[in-house]
Amino acid sequence: MKVDTIIINIGQAATMASGGKAKIAGQMNDAGIIANAGIAIKDGRILNIGPSAEIEQKYQWDEAIDAKGRILTPGFVDSHTHPVFVHTREDEFAMRIAGKSYVEISLAGGGIRSSIQSSRDASVEELVELSLPRIQKMIALGTTTLEAKSGYGLSTQSELKQLKAIAELAKILPIDIIATFMGAHEYPIEYENDHEGYLKILIDEMIPAVKEQGIAEFCDIFTEAHVFSIEESRWVLRAAREHGLKLKMHADEIIPIGGAELAAEMGCISADHLGAASDNGIMALKAAGVIPTLLPATLFSLAAKTYARGRFMIDSGLPVAIATDYNPGSCNCDSMPLTMSLACLQMGLTPIEALSAATINAACALDRGDQVGSLEIGKLADIIIWDIPSLNFIPYHLGSSHIVKVLKRGRCIFKAQ
Ligand code: NIG
Ligand code: FE
Repeated sequence: MKVDTIIINIGQAATMASGGKAKIAGQMNDAGIIANAGIAIKDGRILNIGPSAEIEQKYQWDEAIDAKGRILTPGFVDSHTHPVFVHTREDEFAMRIAGKSYVEISLAGGGIRSSIQSSRDASVEELVELSLPRIQKMIALGTTTLEAKSGYGLSTQSELKQLKAIAELAKILPIDIIATFMGAHEYPIEYENDHEGYLKILIDEMIPAVKEQGIAEFCDIFTEAHVFSIEESRWVLRAAREHGLKLKMHADEIIPIGGAELAAEMGCISADHLGAASDNGIMALKAAGVIPTLLPATLFSLAAKTYARGRFMIDSGLPVAIATDYNPGSCNCDSMPLTMSLACLQMGLTPIEALSAATINAACALDRGDQVGSLEIGKLADIIIWDIPSLNFIPYHLGSSHIVKVLKRGRCIFKAQ
């Protein structure tokens, strides 16, 4: 049989195989390694994976990639990012070093609100042009599936504009980009004293318009003491669910107000952050099958003293995922490998658990466990070819890249110089 591409002489293929399901407990520490492997790729998908010699014998091909004994992993799935904005906010980073907290900076007019006017003023084209190089950097760092949120418009028209920019980026860039509507990222300043007014716009205007335009798959909300309360979040999430949007939450990032419990009650696909989540909240997530998506780079960038309890969650049987949370304020980190390092160092994950969290479990957090996140027959051929001596090397070398090639749907989309 003729295929498009074969990859031969793979020293180790870390398949992260799971049958499409999120990995839990001891499974997270199993990379599903096939030594001396080969992969046959047809129509962008993995047609076969097995011993290199067998693959070479069984198929004819248009293109052969000799992996020269290298290590392969699935491409990273970054399931939580905010890449569409106008200006960066490095001065807030300096303010945090000088002792101000993220919430203090937000309440003093910085934070998300300081990103709104420039996003409202920008055209779709400008937003696309500014976001493109940001996402290209992520691709060079191995990300092959990306979730991107709106949330810097906070008016019906400008939220739709941000989602339009995300749709354009998805057309232009060679990776899968999945859009999340996040009109509930913050209360815009003009509704500071009229939360009900903004909630009405979210529920009566924005969510129906997003649904009608089919421009987002998920709805997310920043549930936190200084932003959306539990009650307010419940209203928004209910409306989103009624309109057929899948749910995500920024939950219990800083103060444990019951965000995790609400994520369980609402049947969210993932609850993200969870830096301060209570034991009850964590157990509620487990019972409801919600994926805890931990964002260690955010807490690192906020100079947090404590981190989400990743070790405890894995030991308790939860399918932990990790993501960058790339955004202009709390966390300007585009690197999944660095996020893995921080998950290991600050949350106690093993390197292989961190890899599971960054690939197959993250795919499940985007409801794509059957499509991406592992090297298994039928899945997209989204692959990273590494120049590393072992998988532990990925989080071990902090902030440096050892990626030789990134393939998306079997095609090379990045090659190191
Ligand atoms: O995930 N938590 C809410 N949103 C971002 C922060 C965005 C910003 O500061 O601009 C986050 O941390
Ligand atoms: Fe976020």
